[in-house]
Amino acid sequence: MISFYDVGKAYRTGTVAVERASFRIGRNEFVFLVGPSGAGKSTVLKLIYMEEFPTAGRVVVGKIASDRVKPRQIPHLRRKLGVVYQDFRLLKDWTAYENVAIALRVTGASRKRLKKRTLASLARVGLVHKSGERAWQLSGGEQQRLAIARAIANEPILVLADEPTGNLDPETSLGIFHLLRDIHLAGTAVLVATHDAEMVKRFAGRVIRIDGGKLSEDI
Ligand SMILES: Nc1ncnc2c1ncn2[C@@H]1O[C@H](COP(=O)(O)OP(=O)(O)OP(=O)(O)O)[C@@H](O)[C@H]1O
Ligand SMILES: [Mg+2]
Repeated sequence: MISFYDVGKAYRTGTVAVERASFRIGRNEFVFLVGPSGAGKSTVLKLIYMEEFPTAGRVVVGKIASDRVKPRQIPHLRRKLGVVYQDFRLLKDWTAYENVAIALRVTGASRKRLKKRTLASLARVGLVHKSGERAWQLSGGEQQRLAIARAIANEPILVLADEPTGNLDPETSLGIFHLLRDIHLAGTAVLVATHDAEMVKRFAGRVIRIDGGKLSEDI
């Protein structure tokens, strides 16, 4: 579903964030992308949801290739992906319900589907009782779960989570990892970027490491 072919990414500043990376992620996989701060994790995710483009090699996501993609195809690609951003990107003054509903509204979902999927997604992350609260009123862990609810609203084939436990305590972090694992078990591929190596050890599964832009894989 995702293929990187000798992908390199150098930012305009000259920083090489990813160097000759090649890997594949198949449907229904659960994969951790682990590495220290500045290693290139967010860059790898941005290359997948095509917020950034490679400066060498190519990225293929489904039928869309980074070197041939047309701008109008990108919203189409994003609809199939659920992204949990490192900085959440929630609309702070909007309610939890509205933060999830917007993801469906932009796809032109019917009113019936919008309501059904919004409530189902909030239920999935245990936040139905907070539907009417504004995002800024939620705790850090709740905001993270809300970001996950928004990511799964459109029933994506792949969820990309960038440092989903960045500022959370170990117990809350564990809850988030379990939630992502459950989403995977329900039939969605999940790629989680994290520097939390301890947490990764507690979850058996595929681990791709990145350090200084160089990828390697545990076998
Ligand atoms: N837009 C940008 N312009 C220039 N350099 C960038 C840009 N984004 C990232 N970088 C650089 O690329 C490298 C990789 O950054 P990236 O954000 O991918 O790392 P990361 O592994 O996600 O780090 P963290 O764990 O801190 O989130 C870093 O050296 C960073 O400074
Ligand atoms: Mg990052």
